[in-house]
Amino acid sequence: MFWGALLLLLSSNAVASRHDADLMSFVTLPEVRALKWEIQHYDRERMAPGYIFVAPYGQISPEHPTQKYQQYQVGPYIYDDSGMLIWAGSPMYDNENTFDFKPVNNIDSKPHLSFVVGWAADHSKKGHGALVSQHYEVEKEVQVINDLHDFNMHEFNILEGGKTALACTYRNARVNLADFGRPTEESWVTVGGFVELDVATSEVLVQWDSLDKIALHESNMFHASDGVATGEPGWDYVHINAVDKNEAGDYLISLRFTNTLYLISGQDGSIIWRLGGAESNFDQDFTFSKQHDAKFVSSNGTHHVISVLNNASDERGNDENTSSGLVIELDTSVNPMTARVIRRINRPDSGLTRLRGSFRPLPNGNYFVGWSERGYSSEHASNGDLLMTARFTSDRYSTYRSFKGEFTGRPVAPPDLVANVYGTDDKDTTTLIHVSWNGATDVVQWKFYAQSYDRGDPVYIGSTNKTDFETMYIADGYMDWVSAQAIDAEGNVMHTSKVMRTEIPSNWISAGWIGATSGPSPDDPSIIAAANDASKLSSGSSASDKGTEFINDSTSNSTGSIASSDHSAAQYADAKEVAKAVYKAYDIIRGIGSLLVFLLVVGVLGGAGYAIWRSVRDRRKRSYQHVPSEEGLPTEEIRLTSTGRE
Ligand SMILES: *[C@@H]1O[C@H](CO)[C@@H](O)[C@H](O)[C@H]1NC(C)=O
Ligand SMILES: *[C@@H]1O[C@H](CO)[C@@H](O)[C@H](O)[C@H]1NC(C)=O
Ligand SMILES: *[C@@H]1O[C@H](CO)[C@@H](O)[C@H](O)[C@H]1NC(C)=O
Ligand SMILES: *[C@@H]1O[C@H](CO)[C@@H](O)[C@H](O)[C@H]1NC(C)=O
Ligand SMILES: *[C@@H]1O[C@H](CO)[C@@H](O)[C@H](O)[C@H]1NC(C)=O
Ligand SMILES: *[C@@H]1O[C@H](CO)[C@@H](O)[C@H](O)[C@H]1NC(C)=O
Repeated sequence: MFWGALLLLLSSNAVASRHDADLMSFVTLPEVRALKWEIQHYDRERMAPGYIFVAPYGQISPEHPTQKYQQYQVGPYIYDDSGMLIWAGSPMYDNENTFDFKPVNNIDSKPHLSFVVGWAADHSKKGHGALVSQHYEVEKEVQVINDLHDFNMHEFNILEGGKTALACTYRNARVNLADFGRPTEESWVTVGGFVELDVATSEVLVQWDSLDKIALHESNMFHASDGVATGEPGWDYVHINAVDKNEAGDYLISLRFTNTLYLISGQDGSIIWRLGGAESNFDQDFTFSKQHDAKFVSSNGTHHVISVLNNASDERGNDENTSSGLVIELDTSVNPMTARVIRRINRPDSGLTRLRGSFRPLPNGNYFVGWSERGYSSEHASNGDLLMTARFTSDRYSTYRSFKGEFTGRPVAPPDLVANVYGTDDKDTTTLIHVSWNGATDVVQWKFYAQSYDRGDPVYIGSTNKTDFETMYIADGYMDWVSAQAIDAEGNVMHTSKVMRTEIPSNWISAGWIGATSGPSPDDPSIIAAANDASKLSSGSSASDKGTEFINDSTSNSTGSIASSDHSAAQYADAKEVAKAVYKAYDIIRGIGSLLVFLLVVGVLGGAGYAIWRSVRDRRKRSYQHVPSEEGLPTEEIRLTSTGRE
C-alpha cells in the first residue's frame, strides 16, 4: 500500500487531468478519491439518528489489476446525513468491490461493520464475508465453501449474537428437462441456495438449495421453449438474492426469477409457503416482482411482518410503474392465509430501480431505501413522508444496497496531518495545516501543536472546530514538527496525530519569496504562540477560538502563563528574530554534526532569548537531549516515512 501511495504521488499530475469533479480529494489522504454524496433534505428534524453506509462500485465484476494504480474509489464508505465523508474504506481491501456494507449492532454492546469482499479479477481470491470492529480492524473473514467460485455478493447476514451468518450460494448442475416436457434432454442450470456459516470457523452448519425443490417451470426467466445450456454456468433460473432467519429457526429466501419469497423449514428444508409468483399460498391484495432484500421485521408462530424492495419490473417489461419498498403482514393462522401491504414507499422520483436495491425499517420507525443505481437512496417517516434523498454526484458508480444506522467509529490509526509553510518574507510566514481522521465519528474540534525540534515539548498553537472530513488550520509563523489532537464534545482528547515535519516549497524564490535570506527558518512555537497571544489579548480580539486559547496540557508546561498584555505585533516580529537566532544555531550544529557544540551554542543564544522574553512570559528551561533523528532526509521522504502504512 505504501508503494502504491508513492506511485500515486508521483503520477498525480496524470491522474488529475481526468474528469473527476464528482470525486473528493484530500491533502491528508492523497490516495483516496471518495465519491461526492449529494443529500437533499425535506424534513431534517424527523430523520433517524445515524450514518449512511454505501459501497460504490464501477462494475460488478472486479476491475482488472491494471486499473489498480488509480486512487482508491470503490469499497465501503460511511457518510453522515449531511453528506460529509466519515470513512473511506477503499484502501482496506485495495479497491476490491464490496457489497452489502452495513453497521452490525446485534453482536454485543459494541458496534461492528460487515460486508462482502468480491472475488479477485484473476480469480486468485474468492472473496469473503468481512466483520470489522469499530476500530476498523478485521475481526473475522468468513470464507466460501470450497466448491463455490466466490462468496456470493448478495448477502452477508450476521445473525443475532454474531455466532453464525447467512450467505447465498450459486452452484451449477445438470438437470433433466422433464419438467419442461423434454425428458430426454438435460441442461446446465445455476442452482440457488443458502448456507448458515459459523462466523468463527467458516464451517457450514446448514445448507439448502433449489435443486429438486424448485421446479424449472416456476422460473420467469427460462421457459420450455428455451434451447438447452450445454455448458456452465447454465440457466440462472431462480437467482437467489436474500436470506434471513426467524427465531423459530426457519429461513426466508427471495428468488428474484420466480418473483417469490419462500419460507424454508429449519427442520427439514421443506418449503413451508410461497408468497408471490404463480404459486402463492396467500390471499394477497398486491403484487411484487424482481424483489430484493426480503427480511423479517417480526415473526411469531402465526404472524410475520416482512420488508422487501419491489423492483417491479425487468428487462422485458414493467409490472408496475414505479419501484417501491413494501412492508407486508402475513397471517398464517387463517384459511386461506392472508398477505396485506401495511406500508408502501414509492420511489421518490417515480422511477424504476434498474439495478439491485435494499429496504429496511429503522429503529425509530422510519424507513431507509437503497434504490441502488448511482447510490440513489431515500429516508421516509413511518407514515411514508419523504424526509431525504441522496445520490452520488457521479453517474459512474452504484451501490448494491445502502443502509442507515447508528455507529461509533474509533480508528486505531492516528489522525493524518500534513503541514505546509508559505510566505514572501520572514514577517508573513504562515503554516497551513490539514488534518483528518479517517473513520472517526464524534470529533468536534482539532487542537494544534508545534515543537521546536522532534522531541521538544508540544506547544499549543490554536484550535478549530471540525466542519468536514478534512479540516484546515492556518497558524502564524513557520511552525515545524506539527501535531493535532482530536477532541470530542466533552473536551476529551480522542487521539493525537504523529508529529509531522512541515513541508516547504521546493523553491522559495519561485514561490514568491522576497526576504533577505534564501527562505525562512522555523520559528520557535513557544515564542510565537506567546507573542501571538499577548498581541491578541492586547488588541482585545478573541471572539474566535483560533490561536488564542491556551489549554492545560499535561504534556507541556511550556505554554505557561502570560505575564503581560501590553506587547503587540512589534514584539511578535522581535520574537521571530529571537526564534530565528536560536534556529540558526541549531542549523549550524546540523552542519557540524556535533552535539557538544550544539549544546554550547544553544546555551548562549537560548540564554539571550530568555533575557529578552522574560518580560513576555515565563518559559520553562528546555533540555535538548536529542538530535532529530530524521534530520538530513528531504521533507517529502520524512513525511512518507511517518505516514506510510504497510
Ligand atoms: C403473533 O402476533 C400476532 C400479531 O401481533 C398476534 O395476534 C398473535 O397472537 C401472535 N401469536 C403468537 C403465537 O404469539
Ligand atoms: C402506469 O402509468 C400509465 C401511464 O401513466 C397508466 O396508464 C397506468 O395505469 C399505470 N399503471 C399502474 C399499474 O399504475
Ligand atoms: C429490476 O431489475 C432488473 C434486473 O436488474 C432490471 O433489468 C429492471 O429494469 C429492474 N426493474 C425496474 C423497474 O427498473
Ligand atoms: C465551535 O463549536 C462550538 C460548539 O458547537 C460552538 O459553540 C463554537 O461557536 C464553535 N466555534 C466556531 C469558531 O465556530
Ligand atoms: C487549568 O487547570 C487549573 C487547575 O487544574 C484549573 O483551575 C483551571 O481552571 C484550568 N484552566 C483552564 C483554562 O481550563
Ligand atoms: C507543570 O507545572 C506544575 C506546577 O508548576 C507541576 O505540578 C507539573 O508537574 C508540571 N507538569 C509537567 C508535565 O511538567
